[in-house]
Amino acid sequence: WAGHITYAVRIHLLLLLRAGLCASLSFSLSRPVPQYGIVLDAGSSHTAMFVYKWPADKENDTGIVSQHSMCDVEGGGISSYAENPPAAGKSLKQCLDQAVSDVPKERHPLTPLYLGATAGMRLLNLTDPQASDRVLSAVTSTLKSFPFDFRGAKILSGEDEGVFGWVTANYLLENFIKYGWIGQWFRPKKPTLGAMDLGGASTQITFETQKPIEDPRNEVTLRLYGQTYKVYTHSFLCYGRDQILRRMLSKADGYKTNVSNPCWPKGYQRNFKLQDVYDSPCTAAEKPDSYDPQRSIDMSGSGDTAQCRLHVDSLFSFTSCSFTSCSFDGVFQPGLSGNFIVSAFSAFFYTVDFIQTVMKRRVASPDDLNTAAEAICSASWTEVSALAREGGTGAGVSGGWGLREGAGQGHGRGKGAGQGEMQWCLGLCD
Ligand SMILES: *[C@@H]1O[C@H](CO)[C@@H](O)[C@H](O)[C@H]1NC(C)=O
Ligand SMILES: *[C@@H]1O[C@H](CO)[C@@H](O)[C@H](O)[C@H]1NC(C)=O
Ligand SMILES: *[C@@H]1O[C@H](CO)[C@@H](O)[C@H](O)[C@H]1NC(C)=O
Repeated sequence: WAGHITYAVRIHLLLLLRAGLCASLSFSLSRPVPQYGIVLDAGSSHTAMFVYKWPADKENDTGIVSQHSMCDVEGGGISSYAENPPAAGKSLKQCLDQAVSDVPKERHPLTPLYLGATAGMRLLNLTDPQASDRVLSAVTSTLKSFPFDFRGAKILSGEDEGVFGWVTANYLLENFIKYGWIGQWFRPKKPTLGAMDLGGASTQITFETQKPIEDPRNEVTLRLYGQTYKVYTHSFLCYGRDQILRRMLSKADGYKTNVSNPCWPKGYQRNFKLQDVYDSPCTAAEKPDSYDPQRSIDMSGSGDTAQCRLHVDSLFSFTSCSFTSCSFDGVFQPGLSGNFIVSAFSAFFYTVDFIQTVMKRRVASPDDLNTAAEAICSASWTEVSALAREGGTGAGVSGGWGLREGAGQGHGRGKGAGQGEMQWCLGLCD
């Protein structure tokens, strides 16, 4: 996976890919001409472009990267253009034009450009591989028409995605390497933190472990800044925010027009069409032989934590495990030890941000999340939105809970990125 020759290159991609939230690592101003790199992170619900720069020299063969600028692509994720692939390419143009002016002209041909697509495209490749190829070739031809060093548009595996998130989180927390006051790099004696990354269509869990990894597909060995890390990672397709919602809906009674959702606050309501529910491989098992895709269902929140937990639990299977320990659905996972935290990007970021800024609760462990979830679920929608307005983060917030479709998607991300703050890291920055 991480051969010695290629790892430095890969690490650039790793860092480039997700260093987006708040790269704040500083380096001395007297260093040589910076190099640039551009990454498009093509998520299931939207695409974001990050322009990075790093000094020409490297510390123990691994680059020190910082964020230069970012851009949120208008519209949905590239997988939403399955019916009209050329539009997927077009949607990227505005951000790429920005990159043309953000990177000095003489560096253009030396600036690598990548696009990494995640679970939205993994699902499209499962249901309609031809459509997924057409989308990728449309974005490829757009990317090639720009003056950069185009290196490819790929669908990342869930394992790559998990590892990128883990490397990025620990990099930003300066657990690998730190720039000291007296002007040199050193390795802090800090343990790394586990990363849980809940996206729109999949969830990744990644952490360093000394325990044996019984399923080789879950093991990744990385060399970073002269140090070796053994990492467990697994990606659960269909366990992202949007797909979990579909799966919950598919278990609801589709022949009633009014369905209640115990996981939403009282007074919150949303309307779905049956095609929204069944047009995904994640709900294939529940899909009726024939149904009217245009049929509409009203779903309203009942704010019942205990019922919600039952609903959610029914999506996870704990029955079979052919290893010494499993998380769920028969997936091997060694026991979690001390340094696991909930670290989060994208969808999860909004949730945690919401709990911290609006509910004013500290989130430092999965248990804190559970307690906060209970408090939120039993509040009514009016109470929750009143709090949200007070907290002044309305847009980011509703996106976080998936309560209002599409609202503030890019907002929360950008907020972290520009300021070099680590709000998403759950109070563990100190
Ligand atoms: C789509 O899925 C197939 C089967 O898993 C895989 O071989 C192929 O590489 C995937 N396509 C892309 C573009 O990743
Ligand atoms: C880089 O490698 C050298 C030699 O292996 C080591 O002494 C130094 O501590 C490393 N630097 C960092 C920041 O890890
Ligand atoms: C569904 O519930 C909403 C809100 O409780 C209500 O206004 C509406 O009349 C209900 N519709 C049906 C068909 O029961």
